[in-house]
Amino acid sequence: MEQKKKLIEVALPLEAINAESAREKSIRHGHPSTLHLWWARRPLATARAVIWSSLVDDPSSHPEEFPTEEAQRAERERLFDILTRLVKWENSNDEGVLNEAKAEIMKCTGGNPPALLDPFAGGGAIPLEAQRLGLEAHAHDLNPVAVMINKAMIEIPPKFANRAPMNPEWRAQMGASSAPKGAAGLAEDVRYYGEWMKREAYKRIGHLYPKVQVAPPT
Ligand SMILES: C[S@@+](CC[C@H](N)C(=O)[O-])C[C@H]1O[C@@H](n2cnc3c(N)ncnc32)[C@H](O)[C@@H]1O
Repeated sequence: MEQKKKLIEVALPLEAINAESAREKSIRHGHPSTLHLWWARRPLATARAVIWSSLVDDPSSHPEEFPTEEAQRAERERLFDILTRLVKWENSNDEGVLNEAKAEIMKCTGGNPPALLDPFAGGGAIPLEAQRLGLEAHAHDLNPVAVMINKAMIEIPPKFANRAPMNPEWRAQMGASSAPKGAAGLAEDVRYYGEWMKREAYKRIGHLYPKVQVAPPT
């Protein structure tokens, strides 16, 4: 099978990717780093950019469509524009941007994108981003903590996608038939039952812990 040259082999909008990757360090809400600490976690923006540009053809692979260097450069700029928007944290769940990016993957893989396996998945940045881009993602790691993080991030949420929460409070308010989108229902249950566990733990063993005043960080 003829291998097309991929965008990552030719050029990337590195400034945009680097800036978004650096910015992620200060994001505290909704980032997997707040799920569990992982020491060698890679930025999601970098993983997203690398996976996408490894699947999307460089325009020079299609001389029939882009015969001149100028035409290739213009098409590359169009792809850079998609990638620059794709790596933005705010666009992580933007269906418009994701669909545009996925359409390029489909176009360049004949509608049959490959599955992705990360055998050293660690904090899961690579399989998570592969899944976001619509690929079948597999994660593997020697360390059971990394395995647990990956299960929590890429295996369990899709099983409960678009399902209504189970907790009685939500059901009483919203009814069992109205399901929020994606993993929002699961997140609602994790929040509810997490609170319940905290309250129960406090009831049973709270008295064993003295109340202390924690000084504000300096
Ligand atoms: C640099 S970390 C991966 C970081 C990951 N890309 C991320 O974004 O969080 C390397 C991982 O390889 C795992 N590892 C090392 N040797 C391994 C082996 N022989 N088989 C499977 N995993 C291994 C480590 O447990 C560690 O989680």
